[in-house]
Amino acid sequence: MTSRSDRASDGWFLVAAGEPLSGTVRVSGATKNAGLKQMAAALLTPGVTVLRNLDPVVDLDVMLEVMRAIGADVSWSGESELTIDATGPLVPEAPYELVTQLRASINVLGPLLARCGQARVAMPGGDNIGSRKLDMHFRGLETMGAELEVVHGFIEARCNRLCGARIVLEFPSVGATENLLTASVLAKGSSVIENAAREPEISDLAAFLNRMGARIFGAGTATIEVEGVESLRAVDNDVMGDRIEAGTLLMACGIAGGEITIEGTRLEHLDMVVRKLGDMGLAVAPAPEGLTARCEHRLRAVDVATLPYPGFATDFMPLVVALLATAEGSAIVTENVFDNRFGFVDELNRMGADVRNEGRHAVVRGVDHLSGAPVRAQDVRAGAALVLAGLAAEGETRVLDPHHVDRGYPDLAGKLQALGAPVRRMREGVGE
Ligand code: EPU
Repeated sequence: MTSRSDRASDGWFLVAAGEPLSGTVRVSGATKNAGLKQMAAALLTPGVTVLRNLDPVVDLDVMLEVMRAIGADVSWSGESELTIDATGPLVPEAPYELVTQLRASINVLGPLLARCGQARVAMPGGDNIGSRKLDMHFRGLETMGAELEVVHGFIEARCNRLCGARIVLEFPSVGATENLLTASVLAKGSSVIENAAREPEISDLAAFLNRMGARIFGAGTATIEVEGVESLRAVDNDVMGDRIEAGTLLMACGIAGGEITIEGTRLEHLDMVVRKLGDMGLAVAPAPEGLTARCEHRLRAVDVATLPYPGFATDFMPLVVALLATAEGSAIVTENVFDNRFGFVDELNRMGADVRNEGRHAVVRGVDHLSGAPVRAQDVRAGAALVLAGLAAEGETRVLDPHHVDRGYPDLAGKLQALGAPVRRMREGVGE
């Protein structure tokens, strides 16, 4: 199995413009945005959990180290299957070196409090897309009876058994909803989470927890109710397909043209992005195991504003900016979820794009052609957006710092190659 050091080795993506895309590709499991959260949830029960449909992306390797530091015995038991023995005893602490590499390690907070009555988790800090506060995680856990303070850069939390409570989130935060959900399943009494995040990854987590014996109702809606239970049992679970990878491949079809089939995803998870891409001129239709996409003409510019699910996902924003960069006309793109997600536009402009960013808005004026250039990935989706831009650029594009992309896409180059796109993931010391 590929190790983290292999995956993290740098290099670049080498991209060229090619023929229109064609063929069929299957998306990976949603390892980063669903799988990691289910790994953390496995800490809720002293037993052996099996999670399937996972890939060894860099972030999963860091989560493995977090889980091991806590005392869980985690190993690969198959090609895409992870076995987690959380029998314990557990050490309820997530170290600084690991948490700063992986924000999702904050997801151990809820399960550790629920199982151990205490947790010490390093504060993750901000990253390349914004300041990313944790106030809603804290306030929700406090409402359930936990005491939290930040001491020397660590969140120190303790409680007797958590108590069910009514929690109203200020904003439908994905991470806060997940932490409160995993904290409440073993609480005394019932909880209600209002203004909960509705992302499909929340429903996937809730379905997993319910299979473990939790009693969660309404996941996928803005009001989630949880009846606390005394204990959970370890189960096997298949993690959902990666809707963000599916959307990325759809956008690749939009930028390179062609006709493709994407399997392993659900069209309803992509409603808003499909609607927007439809307005731009990319036709998407359901297929037996996923969807088909067809793009025959240059896309038309359409304004886009990101919102929590079921709105247009912030994770698609850099990708749609890459599409708009060569579309016909001008569009305004508004980012409503993160406060600093436009850092990549300078890189896109180095390829000849005409994007102006001011605060939460960007004006994208479509140009006839981009030109290949060396550019640098700044986060996972921004890096993928630059790879897609390379498909519409004259000459060769090198996307440096590809480890950002590897965090969330197990094999982006391989998936695009399967559709006929000339994209290669080059590694240091390995000849072109
Ligand atoms: N926020 C607060 N206070 C909180 C929590 C969040 O102010 O207590 C703010 C954040 O600062 C941010 C906004 O709320 O501005 C949204 O944050 P949210 O908690 O919803 O996001 P997250 O859980 O940190 C996950 C995904 C992101 C995805 C967002 C939104 C994972 C590992 N990360 O982050 O994925 O963009 O939800 O859907 O699941 C990506 O895949 O590229 C990525 C960044």
